[in-house]
Amino acid sequence: MAIERTFSIIKPDAVRRNLIGKIVAKFEENGLRPVAMKKIKMTRAQAEGFYAVHKERPFFGELVEQMIASPVVVQVLEGENAVLKNREIMGATNPANAAEGTIRKLFALNMGENSVHGSDSPENAAIEIKFFFTDDEIVG
Ligand code: CMP
Repeated sequence: MAIERTFSIIKPDAVRRNLIGKIVAKFEENGLRPVAMKKIKMTRAQAEGFYAVHKERPFFGELVEQMIASPVVVQVLEGENAVLKNREIMGATNPANAAEGTIRKLFALNMGENSVHGSDSPENAAIEIKFFFTDDEIVG
């Protein structure tokens, strides 16, 4: 299995509750290495652009409000099979359906405030990484 990169956001609900370290530890313990990381406060334009695929969904407005409410941590994670591995570590989008030991089972509050975002495919990972990082910010 080749080394792959994926994109991750530690969302406002988790940053507000001082969970950055615990969440990064989950990635590291499971073989994913942060090769780029920054704490930012997303603008409305960034949040609307990043989640544009969801703009017709009924939850879009609330999702954008939640993502811009307070800072997030954006990361590039690297490791074997990183996209799928990250999704396994995160657990299901709805924490009610998330498996034991996953980040969303441990920390998520509800579907919207679900603590983390992760890319759903290698193609989207490449797009999402470029949305937040320049090549020289990815330092290995
Ligand atoms: P995320 O992986 O960041 O991608 C889109 C987000 O929309 C998702 O996690 C959830 O936080 C949020 N969301 C809110 N309601 C829904 C829903 N019904 N289905 C999917 N995602 C939802």
